[in-house]
Amino acid sequence: MTQDELKDAVAAAAIDEITPWLERDTVLGIGTGSTANRFIDRLARLRDDFKGAVASSEASAERLRGHGIEVFELNSVGTVPFYIDGADEVNAHLHMIKGGGAALTREKIVAACAERFICIADASKKVERLGEFPLPVEVIPMARSYVARELVRLGADPVYREGVVTDNGNQILDCFDFMIDDPVAMEARINAIVGVVTNGLFAARGADVLLLGAESGVTRLIP
Ligand code: A5P
Repeated sequence: MTQDELKDAVAAAAIDEITPWLERDTVLGIGTGSTANRFIDRLARLRDDFKGAVASSEASAERLRGHGIEVFELNSVGTVPFYIDGADEVNAHLHMIKGGGAALTREKIVAACAERFICIADASKKVERLGEFPLPVEVIPMARSYVARELVRLGADPVYREGVVTDNGNQILDCFDFMIDDPVAMEARINAIVGVVTNGLFAARGADVLLLGAESGVTRLIP
């Protein structure tokens, strides 16, 4: 199976996971990235069975609307029963690194408002220890150099993701050579640096369910 086929398999598994709970007034939280895109494409077939979605990026909002799925502002919805999204890395506790697509802040906000976070990923994303994938940090532009120096003090090698502006008008630093032993503590520590909007560790609020796609099939994991 190709990686794309594995992504498709976990997207299908996520549809199976949420379908019994869909009601006409259900608004779903939808993530960003190539795996989330496959989920959106499958969700389109159910569009008459639920009300709409809150998107974690402009790109996902556009894709949802393209399928005729209504997109709502999070402030008008409050909470969502499910948030479905991919990850760049995920460990056995269902802590994740996210933000490879620069959507980490909105992803974290929608995830915070979700009753259940369903992570969908192919097996290449499962790791023992987070950090091989460079940890993204969204920063207020004028604070970029200051935050980079603070990240060096924490042991990271931050690199400015040139040419990328987030949906919130901010910039991204990617932390290389930064293996993370305590994701909950490090998430809080980086977020405490002045000028950081948020970082791509999803540990304080990790996933509730991981649907992991491998050659042998999709495995459902809980923390
Ligand atoms: C977007 O900013 C990211 O958090 C994505 O959710 C993550 O990078 C996974 O993307 P893929 O599904 O494309 O691997």
